[in-house]
This record gives sequence, C-alpha cells and structure tokens, in this order.
Amino acid sequence: MSTLLVTGGAGFIGSNFVRQALERTDHDVLVLDKLTYAGNLASLEDLPSDRFRFERGDIADADLVARLVGGLDPATDAIVHFAAESHNDNSLEGPRPFIDTNVVGTFTLIEAARRRDIRFHHISTDEVYGDLELDDPGRFTELTAYRPSSPYSSTKAASDLLVAAWVRSFGLRATISGCSNNYGPFQHVEKFIPRQITNILRGRRPKLYGTGRNVRDWIHVDDHNSAVLAILERGRIGETYLIGADGERDNLDVVGTILEVMGRDRDAYDLVGDRPGHDLRYAIDASKLRAETGWAPGTTDFREGLARTVEWYRANEAWWAPQKDATEARYAEIGR
Ligand code: NAD
Ligand code: TYD
Repeated sequence: MSTLLVTGGAGFIGSNFVRQALERTDHDVLVLDKLTYAGNLASLEDLPSDRFRFERGDIADADLVARLVGGLDPATDAIVHFAAESHNDNSLEGPRPFIDTNVVGTFTLIEAARRRDIRFHHISTDEVYGDLELDDPGRFTELTAYRPSSPYSSTKAASDLLVAAWVRSFGLRATISGCSNNYGPFQHVEKFIPRQITNILRGRRPKLYGTGRNVRDWIHVDDHNSAVLAILERGRIGETYLIGADGERDNLDVVGTILEVMGRDRDAYDLVGDRPGHDLRYAIDASKLRAETGWAPGTTDFREGLARTVEWYRANEAWWAPQKDATEARYAEIGR
C-alpha cells in the first residue's frame, strides 16, 4: 500500500486533507506535525488506525525528516507539504517562526525528498503575488510576478522559489499549488471567518479591519483538497497550479452574510484598526488547473458553504472554545 507523508496534518487544511485522502484514495497517511498553537490532535480523531499514523516533530529537524522520508517508497509514495506558520497578523508581530518553518522547514524537506527521489507537492498561496486593485479586471495566473507584502507571504514566496530551483537543479519531482482563502471546519479561531462566527456565538460583535472593503477569493477547504489530489494524480512535474473557485467577495459582504445566516442584522459589526500593509484584493484564475486536470469545485454557493460552516462551529464548541479567549486576548493587545 502506498503512503502519503502529510506535513502540517493537524492544522486546518491538512487535517481536512487527511480525512479526504483516507476516504477517496487507497493511500495510507503518515502525518508529521509539530503541534504548534495551530495544530490540534482533536482534528484527527476517529481516523482508521490501520491506515493512519501520527508523528510529532519539526519539519526543520533534518534527522527526523531523513528517518521518515527514508521509510517512503519512491515508486509509490509522496510528500504533501502543508506545514507552515500561516497567519499574517502573527507574522507582523513576530516573523522569526515564519523563517524557521516556511523557509528552513521547506528546505529540509526538499533536501530529504531529492536524496530519495520522492514525489513532492508543495502547498502555497495566492498571497505570494501581492495584491490587485479593487477595479483591476485582471486576476492572478501562474505567470503573475511575485510581489509578496508580509513576512507570511514573503516566506511562502521564498519556499516556492526553493522548490522550483530544486526541480531545475536537482530533478526534484515536485508540483506547487497556490490557493486562495479557505473556509470550512477545523479552522483556527484567529482566522477571519471562524473568528466572526465564534464572536457571534459568544455574544460579541464581528471585527472588521479598516473599511471592510478588502476582497478575498473564498474557496471551501474540501475543494482546495480535491484539487491537491487532482494535481498529485494528474499534474505535470515542475508545474505550478493556481486553485480558486471564483469566490470573490469583500469582507463587509462576508460578515453581512455570516450575520444574516446566524439570524442577526447585517450591520451588527464593529470596524477596528487596519492591519499594516493590508493586501487589498486577491483573485484567482484557475483555468490551467481546470483544463489540465478536469478539476471543478463542489461548493459553488458560498452562502450555503458558509451556513454549513456556521453549523459546524455551533456543534463543535468543545473543539474551538479552548483557543478562543487566548486568541481574543492577543487581538486585544494589538487593538484589533
Ligand atoms: P494552520 O496554521 O491551520 O496549520 C499549520 C499546521 O502546521 C499546524 O498543525 C502546525 O502545528 C503545523 N506546523 C507549523 N510549524 C511546523 C513545523 N515547524 N513542523 C511541523 N509542523 C508544523 O494552516 P492552514 O491554514 O491549514 O494552512 C496550511 C497550508 O496551506 C499552509 O502552507 C498555508 O500557507 C497554505 N494555505 C492556506 C490558506 C488558508 O486560507 N488557510 C490558503 C492558501 C494556502
Ligand atoms: P485572514 O483570515 O487573516 O486571511 P488573509 O490575511 O490570509 O487573507 O483575513 C481575511 C481578511 O479578513 C483580510 O482582509 C483581513 C480581514 N480580517 C478582518 O477584517 N477581521 C479579522 O478579525 C480578521 C482576523 C481578518
């Protein structure tokens, strides 16, 4: 049986990926995760123990990574690399862990992968391209120039460039995907959508940065992950694929829809101070992925996907409650 080594599999997207991979493929899954504040073993409960294993550790630990990659079979196995420090606000307060994990960690993994010729898929983000003007008719494509704005996006950009260079110089069998903003179950309450849902569940008002006019291109996490599986199965080595589901909305509209779905007035939110360097707009053109792999998103009605997500947070307070107070205390310190 083949194995996927999934880094960051206790995080938001990684844990949803593990569940989908076990349901939809025959692969066994081995998760490597450091269990930072963002990793949560409760997101991996109830998985079949004969096909799933968990190893706690750091992707920048070269000895550990060499041991785990040493157990993989180049003919059948792959590494799917989700692990990262992933939150822009945290990167502005303390960039160091972003360098250690996103840059040095990725370097450590691709060194081990190329030595053993293991297929590698690197999970990245549209944020490496910086932002677009609100009235720009264009969207990001795989050919857009890199122009990252924050310590988070610049370290993701650095990791993409390392992977691309390892393909060219060392023949690493790698693909890269750049996805837009994800939403769905098991997302940490520091992120925009779960923060607002859990604020409302706690009787607090949603907090919108700046004017609320910034635009993000939302995609359900299951659609991100089905695209990753499609790239693993049908993507061409050395290629980058952008993943998006035509879900552009401004933050005001997202908060208004959350409030409406939860039976509140659309304008029952607070405007708070803006994030420094706040990217204005992201938008993805996913034609290459659709044309080459036949992938299409399953959730095309954002309001319906959001309503399911609201229900998940309502039903799973035990999962998010332990993180909520500490997260809001951190936001209070920076006035957001
Ligand atoms: P997350 O913060 O929820 O999870 C990250 C996981 O990585 C956690 O389980 C954490 O414990 C683990 N981790 C962190 N440092 C580690 C280290 N040094 N060694 C081992 N494990 C470590 O992040 P997420 O939102 O699930 O994002 C996953 C990936 O997807 C990231 O690479 C991110 O850049 C990318 N991405 C995220 C989004 C989004 O909207 N969330 C969009 C596009 C791309
Ligand atoms: P976020 O979830 O941090 O993702 P990213 O910075 O990767 O896009 O934020 C999404 C958008 O929501 C972004 O424009 C910042 C904004 N935002 C708020 O308005 N209020 C909040 O409480 C948070 C966390 C984010």
